[in-house]
Amino acid sequence: MAPSSPTVLVTRRLPSSVLDMLRAACDVDAHGSTDELDPQTLRERLAGKQGLLCMFNDPIDADTIAAGDGLKVISTVAVGYDNIDVSAATERGIIVTNTPDILTGATAELTWALILAVTRRVGEGDRIIRARGWHGWTFDFLLGGELRGKQLGVVGGGRIGQAVAAVASAFGMEVVFANRSGAGAEGQPVLSLDELLRTSDVVSLHVPLTDATRHLIDRRTLPRMKRSAILINTSRGGVVDDDALAWALEERLIAGAGLDVYEGEPHVHPGLLVCENVCLTPHLGSATRETRTAMAELAARNVVEVLAGRPPLTPVS
Ligand code: DGY
Repeated sequence: MAPSSPTVLVTRRLPSSVLDMLRAACDVDAHGSTDELDPQTLRERLAGKQGLLCMFNDPIDADTIAAGDGLKVISTVAVGYDNIDVSAATERGIIVTNTPDILTGATAELTWALILAVTRRVGEGDRIIRARGWHGWTFDFLLGGELRGKQLGVVGGGRIGQAVAAVASAFGMEVVFANRSGAGAEGQPVLSLDELLRTSDVVSLHVPLTDATRHLIDRRTLPRMKRSAILINTSRGGVVDDDALAWALEERLIAGAGLDVYEGEPHVHPGLLVCENVCLTPHLGSATRETRTAMAELAARNVVEVLAGRPPLTPVS
């Protein structure tokens, strides 16, 4: 490697093909573990690097960015970038990139997996069988609900929300949206959040985590949902106040929930762990072999492009 090659810190284990792609253009310092680098080590290893390739759960705050005195690009292997202080990066002329689009299909699929799992009580059935608690077919055992004729309320008009909505007609569902701009609904009704919560049978969240969306679903908004409705969250944990959700489920203010993301994950609110009518997955939205590889490749290409003096493929703004 020529001494003048740009240097890049990779914060977590990535496929070797992706590291090879980076190594062809850069001098790579790879933390080859799935564990997070502690903040002090992250800052020390970032010093003098031109590129940072990180994950959505690496906190890249202003102090960390300041430690990267030579940084030109911060590339996250994720569509969401709420972990990065983008303003601090921009002030220092650092480009921030993410990996939109390629995880849309995978995340929409997981959203539907949760919708179906909650409405048809898949998790409950699985647990009963494993506990040797199934004693044969009976007429009214574990009855669920049906999706046909019901309303899907999609909160957020971005790519993932649209991809989830696109499947609804196959299940005979009507779709309504709530989003601030009114964009993305393609002829489907756009309601206020209150109206969507009041009328939908399935409420699915597809918004980024920002100051405006933090605790969008809380003790104030949950009671507005139908008691028969379910809440699905495959966006970001902080969009739902988990304590309020545990309360609403315990009080039977809503019928169930399907969650892939949590406030303070991997910690999960104990009140959610004891609810039978909640299906929990460990942040698997984009977790397909195809999508994760494509995300890592795109993130690496963003680093290479910027460090070669070319525009990034997918800057965040
Ligand atoms: C994302 O891309 O934002 C996911 O949450 C991590 O895959």
